[in-house]
Amino acid sequence: MNFEDIHIIAVLGSGTMGHGIAQVFLTGGYRVMLFDIEESILNTAKARIENSLALFRDAGLIESPSDDHVLGRLSLTMDLKQAVEEAEFIVEAVSEDLALKQALFQQVETHCSPDAIIASNTSSLTLEKIGVRVKNKKRLIITHWFNPPQLVPTVEVVKGDETMDEVVGVTCDLLVKIKKAPVRINREIPGFLVNRIQMAMAREVLDLYEKGIASAEDIDEAVKGSIGFRLASIGPLLTMDLGGLDIWSSVLENLIPEIQHSTKPSKVLKQLVDQGHKGVKSGKGFYDYGMDLSKGDLEGKIKRRDQEFLNRLKNLYWKPESKDE
Ligand SMILES: NC(=O)c1ccc[n+]([C@@H]2O[C@H](COP(=O)([O-])OP(=O)(O)OC[C@H]3O[C@@H](n4cnc5c(N)ncnc54)[C@H](O)[C@@H]3O)[C@@H](O)[C@H]2O)c1
Repeated sequence: MNFEDIHIIAVLGSGTMGHGIAQVFLTGGYRVMLFDIEESILNTAKARIENSLALFRDAGLIESPSDDHVLGRLSLTMDLKQAVEEAEFIVEAVSEDLALKQALFQQVETHCSPDAIIASNTSSLTLEKIGVRVKNKKRLIITHWFNPPQLVPTVEVVKGDETMDEVVGVTCDLLVKIKKAPVRINREIPGFLVNRIQMAMAREVLDLYEKGIASAEDIDEAVKGSIGFRLASIGPLLTMDLGGLDIWSSVLENLIPEIQHSTKPSKVLKQLVDQGHKGVKSGKGFYDYGMDLSKGDLEGKIKRRDQEFLNRLKNLYWKPESKDE
């Protein structure tokens, strides 16, 4: 199969990830069948796509004649057969529940074309487990998107033991076509690439916070204005080359014994969760949403974040000649 043979995409699950993934395929010019278990969930997903399309248009990232044009390619359905029977590429983004994904993959295979590629957006499960009841495992693949999927460019493309190389190639070509930045992961390891790197940083950040080395605000500001500032433009290995590997080697040798290397979960994080402090959703986390940040402050920050993301997307990833819709 060639990626140019793909015209219809099925997205299964329309939650946080599914609706954003559907939006990216819609703006990439594809017909999208969006599947979920309740009509109200599907309607919410459609409304979220409409709101997000408006932000993209305001930022000059889509020059679509109208939302109707893009949304006209979207079909909402609670019928799995209808969702997948004509699709050449299927993305599963239902809850991270192994039994649910196993049952869904088995049903999908009974309804879809024998050539369709079936991709999972799982964060932590393997294709071996998810696809245990799938007969043709050669067409299974993981495409691991990042939240918010309509904004974050990278998608990790993970090859399972039985995935055909052709499936990896077609998937990467398709992702490039919809202006995403696929990264090939040659074998399944827990956390793939990015979550492993992110967790290594989280362990150190939580330890510094727990030891009172700096306040939450200062830790966030320090990372944002230094490594965060750099990493949006150049990766960690190029950063090392630019800084000089001899210097990096000495600094690493001196600091590595000092860095947190416990294999136990973070105490401070567990304490906060046990006290009911789950972040924005409970009103308190590392910040107090009321004392440190009012609802208006937070909404303003999120709006500015999204505008910054959109500008960065435009400057770093969306080439002017490919800005066709
Ligand atoms: N949220 C993230 O940051 C993130 C990032 C990367 C990957 N993921 C992965 O993406 C997947 C989806 O995560 P999410 O955050 O969008 O979850 P979510 O809870 O927001 O959405 C899951 C959706 O699946 C639907 N669903 C449940 N059972 C279903 C069924 N039988 N058939 C069809 N739909 C069903 C739910 O109604 C819901 O709309 C998970 O595998 C998760 O690990 C999430």
